[in-house]
Amino acid sequence: MAAWDLLFRRVHLATFAGSEPYGTLRDGALAVRAGRIVWLGAERDLPREARAAQEIDGAGGWLLPGLIDCHTHLVHAGNRAREFELRLQGASYEEIARAGGGIRATVAATRAADEAALVAASRPRLARLMAEGVTTVEIKSGYGLELSAERRMLRAARALGETAPVRVTTTFLGAHALPPEYDGRADAYIAEVCDVMLPALYREGLVDAVDAFCERIAFSPAQTEAVFRAARALGLPVRLHAEQLSDSGGAALAARHGALCADHLEHLSEAGAAALAAAGSVAVLLPGAFYFLRETHLPPVARLRALGVPIAIATDCNPGTSPLSSLLLALNMACVLFRLAPAEALAGVTRNAARALGRGDDLGTLEAGKLADLGLWNVDTPAELCYHLGYNPLALRVFGGQISGAGDAAQG
Ligand code: NIG
Ligand code: FE
Repeated sequence: MAAWDLLFRRVHLATFAGSEPYGTLRDGALAVRAGRIVWLGAERDLPREARAAQEIDGAGGWLLPGLIDCHTHLVHAGNRAREFELRLQGASYEEIARAGGGIRATVAATRAADEAALVAASRPRLARLMAEGVTTVEIKSGYGLELSAERRMLRAARALGETAPVRVTTTFLGAHALPPEYDGRADAYIAEVCDVMLPALYREGLVDAVDAFCERIAFSPAQTEAVFRAARALGLPVRLHAEQLSDSGGAALAARHGALCADHLEHLSEAGAAALAAAGSVAVLLPGAFYFLRETHLPPVARLRALGVPIAIATDCNPGTSPLSSLLLALNMACVLFRLAPAEALAGVTRNAARALGRGDDLGTLEAGKLADLGLWNVDTPAELCYHLGYNPLALRVFGGQISGAGDAAQG
């Protein structure tokens, strides 16, 4: 038989494939060739002639798919600690946004930064995600709100993906907020997004998907729909910040356009949940933003579950509502705040997160044929990834079949 590049022995596998919640395969082994998983099963079933260039003794740890953070605003400049202070004195997120702060404050800082400065500011955030076993990360634009600055953000995201082993997918979020120069002219800004910015950035190969913020402090359903039409005309998948602060019917609108996912969803209605189910869209829940805004309206998890809507979990790493660069902490919050079972939360950063990025065919589960993005964890059960607070039990990371250390060795 052909030799393998890499063989893990003495591991338990949480495959997130099949019907059992973790897809558990105890006392397993997993083999990699040419960057892909080529064999997995019980170690006792390993073909006797099995040979690999490198063998890893997992010492009874758990091997999981590499974690996927499917919703981040990781590339940005500056921070909003001052706004945090104001909110602690009683100001609300919406009040600050309406007074010209919020997203616009980060837009000013991001417009003032060149591409190198954006990369330098963002790399430590990416390194922290990677140090916890993240092997794929989605990064949005949306703090430029003009062609040149949106381009710099997306180029910075691509540059981060080229200089680190992590896979980066980009999302154009030109319709994140109304830039100050368009005050009172939201429709004109949406026309600029659809007719100028999106086509140019798409032609430059900078856009993998398109997002918008459908909310009373952002864009209306009609404006959101215009963005979706422009995206679909270019063949780009769409997704949406929907029902975060109020019910605008965004999830149903996203579902009508075959969205990969709808995200936030604290104020999702029964009809919105049903529309997501019918469209097969993923519900991406962002417990960091829920926590940081002290939101009290819970996303309808039981309803989503009953309807069979796949649930993903992400950090929403951003300076305003979720300055969080720990997917492990997001997992814990999803369990404690949203009452997800640890197996559900973990499926939300593996199988369902891959699906939210349109990458379910080659990422997100341990199955023969999938890309060998893996994490080996020094835990007794996978639930421990959700259970600990501020503790990182990652032992080893594998990006496309290439081993990279963990702990201090994993910093970027
Ligand atoms: O996902 N909801 C809109 N966008 C971000 C927040 C952006 C910001 O406040 O800077 C979010 O919560
Ligand atoms: Fe977001």
